[in-house]
Amino acid sequence: MHRLLAPTLTLALLAAAAFAAPAPALAADGITRGTVYKDGPDNRYLLGGEWLFRLDNGQGRKQRFQRQTTTDGWTKTAVPNTWNAGDNSVASMQGTVGWYRKDFRLPDRRARMNWLARFESVNYRAQVWLNGRPIGRNTGAYLPWDLRLPRSALKRGETNRLVVRVDNRRLRTDFPPSGLTGSGDPAGGWWNYGGLLREVYLQRVDRVDITSLVVRPELSCATCDASVLARVVVRNYGDATARVRVGGSFGGRAINLGSRRVGARDFERFQTRIRVPRPRLWSPVSPYLYGVRFTVRAGNRRVLGYTLKSGIRSIKVADGKLTLNGRALNLRGVGLHEDDPQRGFAIDRARREQIAAQAKELGATVIRSHYPLHPEMHELADRMGLLVWSEIPVYAIKTQYLKRETVRKLAARELESNILANQNHASIMLWSIGNELSARPGPVQSFYIEHAVRQAKALDPSRPVGLAVAGYPSAGCRPQYATLDVIGINEYFGWYPGPNGQIADRDALSGYLDSVRACYPHKAIFVSEFGAEANRDGPLEEKGTFQYQQDFVNYHLAVHGSKPWLSGSVYWALQEFRVRPNWDGGNPRPNPPVHEKGLLRFDGSKKPAWFDVQRLFAATPQLGAQ
Ligand code: GCU
Repeated sequence: MHRLLAPTLTLALLAAAAFAAPAPALAADGITRGTVYKDGPDNRYLLGGEWLFRLDNGQGRKQRFQRQTTTDGWTKTAVPNTWNAGDNSVASMQGTVGWYRKDFRLPDRRARMNWLARFESVNYRAQVWLNGRPIGRNTGAYLPWDLRLPRSALKRGETNRLVVRVDNRRLRTDFPPSGLTGSGDPAGGWWNYGGLLREVYLQRVDRVDITSLVVRPELSCATCDASVLARVVVRNYGDATARVRVGGSFGGRAINLGSRRVGARDFERFQTRIRVPRPRLWSPVSPYLYGVRFTVRAGNRRVLGYTLKSGIRSIKVADGKLTLNGRALNLRGVGLHEDDPQRGFAIDRARREQIAAQAKELGATVIRSHYPLHPEMHELADRMGLLVWSEIPVYAIKTQYLKRETVRKLAARELESNILANQNHASIMLWSIGNELSARPGPVQSFYIEHAVRQAKALDPSRPVGLAVAGYPSAGCRPQYATLDVIGINEYFGWYPGPNGQIADRDALSGYLDSVRACYPHKAIFVSEFGAEANRDGPLEEKGTFQYQQDFVNYHLAVHGSKPWLSGSVYWALQEFRVRPNWDGGNPRPNPPVHEKGLLRFDGSKKPAWFDVQRLFAATPQLGAQ
């Protein structure tokens, strides 16, 4: 409810006002109650409407953009935003510094409220000021983070200025890292879009807030009753101890998490389990979701509600295969990027719905990306029955950097925050700790893997942990992978030559996959990537033609289909995306910076291979027998 009315109004009037149009200040500032996605607490306000932007041009700190009150030099924009969609230059890929600013009045000026600013994804380094005062920093995109707005800096009745300096110049130790290709161009697996790539929210805290919330259904057999763990961590923002009560419901069944005293500025954990007899299970063919709701009371007041959807299913590795509700899987799916020709990575709901619908239309039951997806993408996957290979952007980090403790700590933080932010989604089938680290791992990678697996299991024992690796025969069997549950093989047999030409011949694929299996008979093995660029008609033998791509997908899917021990295969990628300047991707007639292995062109139209993949996916029993 928006309390921008004179305090002399009666309670009745206030109640009526809650149902009326938003107060003028709110509407003018573009602030709306609620989030773009559905799951989460009900104390968030979208910081929409008009934002301001300016490039740094080496001037920002000198001229103190963070303190500027006039709008001189700033241009209007809207958030989510990236400043370099469509700028395909080397400089654009290398990154620069941009400043965002939002002038706003609080949607609720009552003194007891505390406020946080929540950023869903900022690429890459962010520094934030409120009314000229520095309030915090963050490093890394694709995962949410928040900052408390200090009471002493916040203006309750007047306009506040939130300023964010965004620096997307990458380092070799970042996720993903910078680097140079053999020809001296910036390296990287997707475009380096700078900006506030996902929404920014204000979060209102009425004395007590929820800092983490877990709803984890556990199912020991497909016909068993489910046990659901509910865990809520609250924080008391007040200066006095509060009596806090947390209650809720799961699919209409009450959950009582009890009541406790929470000290001033302290945290407290509430936890319980409920039984759900004869649960309706979640699966790609029947993605049934239970409605879950929590409420937090402090003293006699309800201070917060939290809503989410939960799916009951089990995902395990058994007898060397990934199983869902006890059934061995043989999934088919696609890798994807949240990219768009006009908006870059700052995509909107319509685009997310389109991506999910395209994956479904193709017949995919699994999707993969190199970084945690937007929360709404996870909700779409929950609802539409798409399993998600959830990966952190620990992408092709060189061993010499992975060796550094600071880098490993940052990677651990990525993993932890992905699990904390996204673990309640039924669609997420595993936590992937990276992509294409050295294919010949040594002690450094071994150390990384062991720690990451242990950390993921401690945070979420209900999901397998995996890693995607570049598939080369010379890599041999690697004891360093011992603790992983799932290994993803990125195989480009017959497309790239690979070191010493070892993958140039596609006929070597079948034997290679068998050798991988022989190395890891108890792990679930996926083909986590395979793909060929295509941008023109031409001879079947010529790389880069639609005909070559068609032949490629038919051959590779036939080989994958001949391996009954395989848990799935994922085509790379659903759709074209911007990758990097001078990309050729193995195509003798490339079209940089566009990565053209997609089954859909960047404009969304279908290439001929789309129909082959669709037919072959449909012909594959993906959710196998018990
Ligand atoms: C990689 C990588 C992808 C990349 C692909 C390619 O191994 O994981 O991000 O796009 O291969 O070369 O097309």
